[in-house]
Amino acid sequence: MSTVHIPVLVDEVLRLINFEKGILVDCTFGGGGHAKVILDNFNGISIIGIDQDEDAIRRGLELKNIYGDRLKLYRENFRNVDLVLKREGLDSVKFFLLDLGVSSDLLSDEERGFSFMKSGPLDMRMDKSSEITAAFVVNTYPRERLAHVFYKYGEERFSRRIAKAIVEYRKRKRIETTDELAKILIECVPKKQKIHPATRVFQALRIYINDELGALEEFLSKCLDFLTPGGRIAVISFHSLEDRIVKNFFKSKDKEGVLKILTKKPITPLGREIKFNPKARSSKLRVGEKI
Ligand SMILES: C[S@@+](CC[C@H](N)C(=O)[O-])C[C@H]1O[C@@H](n2cnc3c(N)ncnc32)[C@H](O)[C@@H]1O
Repeated sequence: MSTVHIPVLVDEVLRLINFEKGILVDCTFGGGGHAKVILDNFNGISIIGIDQDEDAIRRGLELKNIYGDRLKLYRENFRNVDLVLKREGLDSVKFFLLDLGVSSDLLSDEERGFSFMKSGPLDMRMDKSSEITAAFVVNTYPRERLAHVFYKYGEERFSRRIAKAIVEYRKRKRIETTDELAKILIECVPKKQKIHPATRVFQALRIYINDELGALEEFLSKCLDFLTPGGRIAVISFHSLEDRIVKNFFKSKDKEGVLKILTKKPITPLGREIKFNPKARSSKLRVGEKI
């Protein structure tokens, strides 16, 4: 099956590539949108693509017909980027690209349980081999712990009320599906909000289950060891929790004199991109260069 994901900030990413020959690591390969454009525009560049979603890797392998050995793919969490580079026998690379979060391919596959707009099992694991599912969390966590997850990772102001409603509901019946959870949420928070009442809770569960912030922090703690001087790291994030981690990491490395920040303010999409692809709306791109 082909990808439905539309890559964001493509021209902006292309403009950041400051080398003609060498290796770029695409840590969030997804539908391969960024990778394809980079391979098409820079003949001397090879890409190591990483994704923890096996479907993304399976789809990506079809591109090897076009790009051959210029594209290598690993089903792995990018927090283990050091292991991937070791397997490739590499000490250093010229560019790391991260385009965080979930792809439209994952969102549109109801069997993966990421979307409250579709009915599916309450799963939300990007890595299908990991243990904790959204169903496990909402059906077993005590009320206080649920509220904490919703508040911390979704910045959901009705976190306590929602946790209470979930605990009440599950006394009668286990919560099995995305639409069942969405219905509980719709019934317990005010209807008049700018966003769908399930948005923040679904975001919180996804970030928590996939330990998205922990993986980002671990990746950042390792990546500079593998970047050549003058090499760059570009991170596209979609919400403030991720963006804050990247911003603070760049600032601290800038202070230490090991990284130059190239984006005092993050790069954001132009109006015409948002019009064409509304999902790009909240994207922010930050870039640093190793000194
Ligand atoms: C927004 S999509 C990337 C889309 C891609 N840039 C494109 O143009 O098609 C994010 C991808 O990163 C993957 N991902 C998220 N966190 C990850 C992690 N910690 N390790 C590996 N892959 C991850 C997801 O499975 C998803 O496929």
